[in-house]
Amino acid sequence: MLSYSSYVLTAVAALLVTCHALRKFPEVPRLAGIFGLPGRDDLRGQPPLSGLPNSLDTELYDTLLHLGKRLSRLEGVLALNGKITEAGEKILASNGKEVDFASALESCEKAGGTLATPMNEEENNAVLNIVKQYNRYAFLGIKEGDTSGQFKYIDGTPLNYTKWHQYEPNGKGREKCVEMYTDGSWNDKRCNLHRLTICEF
Ligand SMILES: *[C@@H]1O[C@H](CO)[C@@H](O)[C@H](O)[C@H]1NC(C)=O
Repeated sequence: MLSYSSYVLTAVAALLVTCHALRKFPEVPRLAGIFGLPGRDDLRGQPPLSGLPNSLDTELYDTLLHLGKRLSRLEGVLALNGKITEAGEKILASNGKEVDFASALESCEKAGGTLATPMNEEENNAVLNIVKQYNRYAFLGIKEGDTSGQFKYIDGTPLNYTKWHQYEPNGKGREKCVEMYTDGSWNDKRCNLHRLTICEF
């Protein structure tokens, strides 16, 4: 039985191969659709990638198809073990650690992601799924701006979805971070308290 790190290594190796292929053949993004695993017929009738001999085009297609299938199998393994939760294009995961807001954000960014930032009901439910799994409140990737009561995404853009608990936010500028309760609703909270780290990728 392979360990998780072997799986991750395999995935990284697979991605490196893909990136290499993309640099060499900049037109490959046209093939991106195969990651959705359509039948081979979907590509029939389309002109071959210019400059690529037909045999290479086929080889590239087969390689990408193989990578796509392999990645979705890996996602299956991780999802089965509750290591990841998916919502649309987002993959959510926790390291199980409860730390202050800055440390939580830092560990997500170090792993190449950011703090979980639910932008619609589906994503909120995916984050809630992990909150329930650990039965711990979690920090979200949302912070209060200079104007009291005005919360924004970490990049400073305005929120397009909120799930405040009744009578929240009520910190009047003293609670600049946001936690998710175990019912999925949000509460403004002091940033130096320790909450579960959930990242999105
Ligand atoms: C808010 O915007 C994001 C990114 O564009 C989108 O994924 C999300 O569905 C939007 N949320 C709502 C409630 O429309």
